[in-house]
Amino acid sequence: MISLKSKREIEIMREAAQRLKIVFEELKRFIKPAMTTLEIDAKAERLIQAQKAKPAFKGYRGYPACICTSMNEEVVHGIPSKRRLNEGDLLSLDIGLIYEGYVSDAARTWSIGQASEEALELMEVTRRALYVGMSQMKLGARIGDLSHKIQDYVESHGFSVIRDFVGHGIGRAMHEDPQVPNFGKPGHGPKLEAGLVLAIEPMVAAGSWEVDILDDAWTVVTRDRQLAAHYEDTIVLTEHGPENLTGSQECEENVNYQVSMV
Ligand code: MF3
Ligand code: CO
Repeated sequence: MISLKSKREIEIMREAAQRLKIVFEELKRFIKPAMTTLEIDAKAERLIQAQKAKPAFKGYRGYPACICTSMNEEVVHGIPSKRRLNEGDLLSLDIGLIYEGYVSDAARTWSIGQASEEALELMEVTRRALYVGMSQMKLGARIGDLSHKIQDYVESHGFSVIRDFVGHGIGRAMHEDPQVPNFGKPGHGPKLEAGLVLAIEPMVAAGSWEVDILDDAWTVVTRDRQLAAHYEDTIVLTEHGPENLTGSQECEENVNYQVSMV
């Protein structure tokens, strides 16, 4: 069942998203080479609490940490650990918080210092794929229209979209209907209406889309161990079109995929 949000609910979700944006901004300044992903997790938890919010992932289906930190060939659901960040690593941060009973969910992929040309293109295509999807959020369009455009865009750049994990509706629960695949057929799936809030989250692999799950039962890696990237935003469809609640100008216009080395 798809739950459409009222103006009042959207107002709260806007506020939740605003708080999540601040968490990302502060983390981007905090992250440095040689840090462990556990240190990032601890910082994220403090930042979320400072926003009067709660981490949405902690304890979700037994998930053991506050955020997901997926590196290089890890696609999503990487568990923070004592692993240290090295220059050239790709780090995908996926963070969800609950504020006043509503969930906001977003992900970014950054490089630690200089990334390879391929990695930079992968991050750029993944971020743009999210905006390609958002541009299809029109009243009366269908989920399949959005899914298809994301897939088409990603594959036209020689990359592939992950099939085993999808985006989702979001609101009081982190995962609501409808599912939002990053692949699909135009004209298929549920119709988009005003008040629909979606977490669109392209997960893009440099090589094949096939994945494995590691023995920790969470970490999703590409089967060919090539790089992957992940972008996610919480986006509402209003009568006036889509509004990216977790997007920021920095993200849309002046993208810096690199965390600073100093
Ligand atoms: N953004 C991810 C999702 O929508 C994060 C979930 S991680 C989990 O599925 F640990 F909470 F499952
Ligand atoms: Co999500």
